[in-house]
Amino acid sequence: MNAELTIVVPTYNERENVIQLIDSLQLVLANESWEVIFVDDDSGDNTAALVREIARSDSRVRCIHRLKRRGLASASIEGILASASPYVCIMDADLQHDEKILPRMLEAIRTGQFELIIGSRYISTGSVGNLARYRTIISRLATLLGQQLLSNKIQDPMSGFFMLRRDYFEQIMHELSGKGFKILLDILASTRAPVRYLEIPYTMRNRLHGTSKLDSGVIWDFFALMLDKMLGRLLPVRFFMFVTVGLMGVLVHMLSLWSIYRLIGGEFLLAQITGTYLAMTSNYTLNNLFTYRDVKLKGRAFFRGLFSFYIYCSFGAFINLVLSEYLFEQDFPWWLAGILGAVSGSVWNYAVTAAFIWKVERP
Ligand code: GDD
Ligand code: MN
Repeated sequence: MNAELTIVVPTYNERENVIQLIDSLQLVLANESWEVIFVDDDSGDNTAALVREIARSDSRVRCIHRLKRRGLASASIEGILASASPYVCIMDADLQHDEKILPRMLEAIRTGQFELIIGSRYISTGSVGNLARYRTIISRLATLLGQQLLSNKIQDPMSGFFMLRRDYFEQIMHELSGKGFKILLDILASTRAPVRYLEIPYTMRNRLHGTSKLDSGVIWDFFALMLDKMLGRLLPVRFFMFVTVGLMGVLVHMLSLWSIYRLIGGEFLLAQITGTYLAMTSNYTLNNLFTYRDVKLKGRAFFRGLFSFYIYCSFGAFINLVLSEYLFEQDFPWWLAGILGAVSGSVWNYAVTAAFIWKVERP
């Protein structure tokens, strides 16, 4: 018989938490039909190997081992898709989510009155526990921002702990962005019809072992998700980021031009060339860090990418010059010729670097 409830646990370096988590699930779900799927992104600490070892003697435990991929949201989605249960629950591996509310979540979802049950830190007796002060503030702020995206009054749309019906998930799964950390927000923002939900309070515990993967990049991811949901259908977010980075590149360029030409009194051409390459280098580095964070190039691949970036973007500059010069001669106003040249250069740069450097098929 297939399990009634699948618990999907994304893991990245959580080896020390796995056994204790399974033990506590076993305890609270003793009378239920459940399974747990760990979705591990090739953790250096061999979390996946440990899960497989346990799986050999416990058929309720499974492991999806992903290579060359990262991401809490995409891991959660793949875990859900790998199961067949009518109910699925997403939960962290680090024991911060209180498994003792699982039976109540299950009971509530079985009534058929709700599509979604959320473990909530922000209603009645729920709390963030002893979460570091700055994390509490960030979490609160993100919650307020996230709520702007939603038409309902969910108190904890950032929760990483929730249960949902499979049929509901299947209705919205094609709309998901799958980027970043905020899978619940992603789900909620992808739901057109109002969702019937229930929040159940819990107190977040401290992480016992290992470290949090939430870093400043995650905050960037969060804004990317917000943007994607707000204007994703009009304009690809990556292009938007690419252009933002490009604008910063203009700043870098002008700053170095000014310091070499005006400040030190160097040759104009030399200053212009140095400025161009400095701007390309900073553009490449920033795009690698942010625009393509999910497929970031490291080590030798980073430098190979940088070199190709110089070459592709030089073509972009060429297209820009030739086109704007042509339009200018056709009596286009100077500013329009300039903009059209710059835009086609950027579209070229974006398209080829997306396809050949970061190798994302659908940028
Ligand atoms: N497969 C995979 N890939 N798992 C990941 C990745 C990844 O790239 N990054 C993190 N995880 C796993 C962690 O191993 C952990 O089990 C879970 O996702 C949450 O990561 P933490 O690093 O513990 O996140 P957090 O505690 O700072 O934030 C969590 O709690 C918040 C409040 O409930 C997350 O669940 C947030 O989404 C949530 O808002
Ligand atoms: Mn955690």
